Amino acid sequence: MNGAGRVYDFWLVCTRCGTSHPALPLYQCRACGGSLEVAYDYERIFSRLPFDRMSARTASGIWKYRELLPVFPGTDPVTLGEGGTPLLPSWRMGSTEGGFQLYLKNESANPTLAFKDRSLSVALTAARQFGMTEVVCASTGNTGVAAAAYAARAGLRCTVYIPATTPPEKLEAMKAYGARLEMVSGSFSDAYATSADEALRLGAFNLTSTYLNPHAVEGNKTLAYEIFTSLQAVPDWIVIPVGAGPLLSGCYKGFREMLLAGVIDQLPRMVGVQASGCAPILQAFEEGRQEVRPWGGSTATLASGIADPLSTYPEDGTRTLAVIRESGGVAIGVSDLDMHHCRRMLAEREGILAELSSVTAVAAVKALYDSGAIRAGELVTAVVTGHGIKDMTAAINFEKTGVE
Ligand code: F0G
Repeated sequence: MNGAGRVYDFWLVCTRCGTSHPALPLYQCRACGGSLEVAYDYERIFSRLPFDRMSARTASGIWKYRELLPVFPGTDPVTLGEGGTPLLPSWRMGSTEGGFQLYLKNESANPTLAFKDRSLSVALTAARQFGMTEVVCASTGNTGVAAAAYAARAGLRCTVYIPATTPPEKLEAMKAYGARLEMVSGSFSDAYATSADEALRLGAFNLTSTYLNPHAVEGNKTLAYEIFTSLQAVPDWIVIPVGAGPLLSGCYKGFREMLLAGVIDQLPRMVGVQASGCAPILQAFEEGRQEVRPWGGSTATLASGIADPLSTYPEDGTRTLAVIRESGGVAIGVSDLDMHHCRRMLAEREGILAELSSVTAVAAVKALYDSGAIRAGELVTAVVTGHGIKDMTAAINFEKTGVE
């Protein structure tokens, strides 16, 4: 038992009313319905094991940091070797052209070729520790592929609810891992609603990668630990593609934890990048609003991975917007045309083939430098969230439309 009379060093806390709950498979505050976050007894954790001893461990990838993940002691992680991805200096797109230092955190080097492996490894470990036998998720593709792979690894049944815009490469991968697929008409937000209903009906653990599952969000913190450990410095800017935004806020939480642990003395500015054709968080940022509203129009972008109109859960976008503002960062939009140019440039100049949703981060760096926001000499990390091989159809379709 810890000092506060809790059995474990982590619990759930409501981001709206602050009510605490034990670490259970919950998605909403029992008092007010607000979204939940994992809280930790950091004093106790860091007094037992300082951060630098965690990062120096030989354990693989994200599991070096298991004390900072919501996993009961003694639980075996469900792992495929996620995390520990390369942080590559971008000689051609940063230093020589811009005079700033750009590093690319290449998340396409994860086992299912996207950053989602971090959160799904944690979520499936949590599912097993809670004794669940079945998992579901809504996904634009990458979460579904990761959920299917990690569920296979854990021996749990998996159903993925997907919008029709999901790339065929991702569908085939989910099927190959043995997941059941349910196509939902409408956008990702419609798939979100169906998965929530079905999770209730089936008694399944819902792994949808908005802020819905507080356990899953925690896996994203490990990105921050790795960026700092590789650079031994805190970037001035971290640039991340966002749908609802748990990667961006998870990453910022990781930096805040390192600040608490006394290993860093400043925080990065967080940049949230959206596709201009579906950008509810950007819209609120530009209009100076505190609250994000659902995206009114259609999801007019081929960047299917981040096309999230936040139709029934705009408060998730509000959470992300608050982090962007708190960090002194910005939200920015990228057009499909710029994504396509950047995708080609990243492949030809850096040897990194990324999916459209992912190249938005690199395209945004260029736009921020051109606008004077990023200055010469600054240290910038752009997160390349997923591999292009999983979304070749979007590239082929774009070529066919002859827009270029
Ligand atoms: N980049 C890629 C390639 C993605 O697939 C996603 C999200 C994001 C960035 C944005 O991340 O969830 O932190 O806002 N994909 C989800 C999915 C929605 O179902 O695969 P986020």
